[in-house]
Amino acid sequence: MEVKRPSDTLVIMNEMVLPNDTNTLHNLMGGRLLHWMDIAAAISAQKLAHAACVTAAVNNVSFNQPIKLGEVVTLQAKCVRSFNTSIEVYIEVWTQNLIKGKGEKVKCNEAYYTFVALSNEGKPIPVAGIEPLSDDEIHQYKTALLRRQLKLVAAGKTSIHDTPELKAQFEKWISGEDKLMEI
Ligand SMILES: CC(C)(COP(=O)(O)OP(=O)(O)OC[C@H]1O[C@@H](n2cnc3c(N)ncnc32)[C@H](O)[C@@H]1OP(=O)(O)O)[C@@H](O)C(=O)NCCC(=O)NCCS
Repeated sequence: MEVKRPSDTLVIMNEMVLPNDTNTLHNLMGGRLLHWMDIAAAISAQKLAHAACVTAAVNNVSFNQPIKLGEVVTLQAKCVRSFNTSIEVYIEVWTQNLIKGKGEKVKCNEAYYTFVALSNEGKPIPVAGIEPLSDDEIHQYKTALLRRQLKLVAAGKTSIHDTPELKAQFEKWISGEDKLMEI
């Protein structure tokens, strides 16, 4: 099976927040940001799969601070791990006010998307593997299994009893052995 590095799937996309993207407070609409995130993440997945990739799931996304009209939004996506036909993509979002903020970039969002590669007939097809290199990439690669299991349990596609790694992680959180952290 072909194996790629996360950096082979890197996508960097810039957008400027225009009036049509904002609410009445001149803040970027959350749905528009999710749309841009979906596009950047899908391109990254397609760099790995070389096939059409559809969004199967996305983890929780919180909107921690408003992004204002005129700001430049930078989205950076790369594949974390593939399983058989599915791919997890990590995406980070920064905002930058080039006029008032003198170019300082502020991180405002991150998310893990799951894509599934499809054939021309719309059937899931196997994708290349990912070989993580840096410590961060290796950590994300390992925890991708837990996020996958969490998404499948939440979607009712499997049970916590059939996901031993997730069950063990929940037990560690409950006992206090592991700090409660986002996975
Ligand atoms: C995503 C989709 C192709 C999966 O179809 P399916 O019949 O569940 O296919 P399978 O059961 O064979 O699963 C295929 C893969 O998707 C993964 N998957 C399915 N649902 C998932 C979910 N909610 N979260 C994470 N992974 C999921 C499976 O684990 C499997 O991965 P693997 O092959 O790496 O083990 C199908 O649900 C679909 O077409 N959804 C609509 C996609 C779409 O249009 N998205 C745009 C938003 S509207």
